[in-house]
Amino acid sequence: MKSVAIGISLSLAVSALASKCAAQCHNAEVITRDVAIIGGGATGTYAAINLKDAGKSIVVVEKKGELGGHTATYHDPATGTPINYGLQVYYDDPLARAFFSRLNINVSKGEFPTSHTPLYIDFTDGVELANYSIPGLNDDYLAELHKYPYLENGLELPDPVPEDLLLPWSAYMKKFNITDDAFATYSRPAVAGDLTKTLALFVFNNLNTVMLEEEIDGKTIVNANGDYAEPFRNALAELGADVLLNSTVVSGQRGSKPAEGVRLCVSTPSGAKQIVAKQLVFAAPPVLDNLSPFNLDRRESAVVSQFAGGFYYTGVVTNLGLPTAHSYVNRGRATESHVASLPGNVMFNPTAVEGTYYYWYTSLSALTRAEVEAATRDTLKRLQRRVAGADAGAEPAFVAYNSHTPLHPTAGAEAIRAGVYRDMYALQGYRNTWYTGSLMVTGSPQLWNITSQLLPKIIAASEQ
Ligand SMILES: Cc1cc2nc3c(=O)[nH]c(=O)nc-3n(C[C@H](O)[C@H](O)[C@H](O)COP(=O)(O)OP(=O)(O)OC[C@H]3O[C@@H](n4cnc5c(N)ncnc54)[C@H](O)[C@@H]3O)c2cc1C
Ligand SMILES: *[C@@H]1O[C@H](CO)[C@@H](O)[C@H](O)[C@H]1NC(C)=O
Ligand SMILES: *[C@@H]1O[C@H](CO)[C@@H](O)[C@H](O)[C@H]1NC(C)=O
Ligand SMILES: *[C@@H]1O[C@H](CO)[C@@H](O)[C@H](O)[C@H]1NC(C)=O
Ligand SMILES: *[C@@H]1O[C@H](CO)[C@@H](O)[C@H](O)[C@H]1NC(C)=O
Ligand SMILES: *[C@@H]1O[C@H](CO)[C@@H](O)[C@H](O)[C@H]1NC(C)=O
Repeated sequence: MKSVAIGISLSLAVSALASKCAAQCHNAEVITRDVAIIGGGATGTYAAINLKDAGKSIVVVEKKGELGGHTATYHDPATGTPINYGLQVYYDDPLARAFFSRLNINVSKGEFPTSHTPLYIDFTDGVELANYSIPGLNDDYLAELHKYPYLENGLELPDPVPEDLLLPWSAYMKKFNITDDAFATYSRPAVAGDLTKTLALFVFNNLNTVMLEEEIDGKTIVNANGDYAEPFRNALAELGADVLLNSTVVSGQRGSKPAEGVRLCVSTPSGAKQIVAKQLVFAAPPVLDNLSPFNLDRRESAVVSQFAGGFYYTGVVTNLGLPTAHSYVNRGRATESHVASLPGNVMFNPTAVEGTYYYWYTSLSALTRAEVEAATRDTLKRLQRRVAGADAGAEPAFVAYNSHTPLHPTAGAEAIRAGVYRDMYALQGYRNTWYTGSLMVTGSPQLWNITSQLLPKIIAASEQ
């Protein structure tokens, strides 16, 4: 009885949607492909190139005007020097090397931009921390990390999920008597929000063995010529019209069986287009804002409504009025573990162009570009007043900006206890939809590995 009722309401919903789709996509060009990919960042681009190489036809729907996601590269107008202000280094593994080679990129050992001599400053008032240095990583942290090997390459958690993993990091540190060492490396890659409140589960999942090998052993690669956007430009040049830039899905229908495929209506700069595909790869953050056009059913909504991303912004600034011999790093003088107060700038790092810095900014709510830049200017004005040798008259010039919001979606402790990650893994392939991207781990090469393991399943489904 119940399933009949659901069946009727679903078919009504589908037909209502079909007419909405039909209205917007009336007479629209139809793009027929094996696989439609939503999001052309690290994982969407990887999926696109590798599916193409496997003989599948693809189309990528990307919201922004370029591929690359968290990669952000500004070219200094005077010298042409590339300044990377988003993604900084890749884990050096065979999969990453193969992908760069495939995109005609020469790699060299990567280095997280050196800080010259860092100044640790409380950005709320510009006062330097006395005798502070970032604590080193020690065996206490490693001993804890090694308790949870299943967090190294995803979030396939035991049932029940160990309660210790659902402690905020500050409580975990107290319970297991570990010192501040996770703060040593934790600001890279970007972590949104207050680390002391981050669940231990996500600390271990992010600052995992791969990340430590990057950090401590320097096991990293980058594009040898310093332009980290180039692999994605090369991918775009190759995929050509199979990438729809500045485009978003307006509505979609997905069948329950592989043979039923998916049908999407997409808004593009050249008007609405219909995509008819056998399978869908969702490689954008899996939050409701991004997924609501896809006509989610109850089961899907119940899972993805639990995920929320962080608020993270990056940019490039010149004429800071600060001595160029330093990087400027935000640390709280009186906060727990000296975490920086939020919202605020994470740091200002020097670049290959003297006097040009890149900065990161994190917040507890959504901000516009104007708000991020105004707040960053305020920070610089406070630093100008306190840092020795600063020029308090200098007016900072903001030359590049990127929003990384929603960053790395996570679920809360209650939802995790109730099995949200188990349920998310169980959605793979459901309604012809596959999920990849930075939900299960954060670094690109690890995500490429996860994606590469998913591709044979997607290919098989597209051939049914
Ligand atoms: C500042 C910063 C620095 C980082 N540094 C490193 C690093 O040094 N090394 C490392 O390995 N990792 C780093 N990361 C982690 C990074 O998240 C991953 O490496 C990787 O980019 C995640 O890939 P992804 O495909 O999940 O997401 P992304 O690369 O963000 O790709 C998602 C894409 O989907 C698009 N999109 C979003 N919503 C929609 C929509 N509704 N419709 C269509 N398209 C949409 C986005 O525009 C984006 O292009 C960094 C992250 C940040 C924010
Ligand atoms: C995407 O939008 C940006 C900003 O509006 C624009 O500069 C760019 O030319 C657009 N690209 C495409 C391919 O539409
Ligand atoms: C890669 O390096 C080789 C050898 O130095 C060089 O000949 C080639 O032009 C480089 N390719 C690119 C794309 O930079
Ligand atoms: C900082 O370190 C120096 C040298 O070790 C010491 O003399 C000074 O008292 C320290 N200052 C503070 C505030 O701890
Ligand atoms: C906690 O760790 C510190 C430093 O590693 C050590 O000195 C101390 O004895 C430990 N305390 C407990 C209760 O284990
Ligand atoms: C990919 O992930 C698997 C675990 O799922 C791991 O065993 C393997 O070593 C990884 N491969 C690479 C190249 O990182």
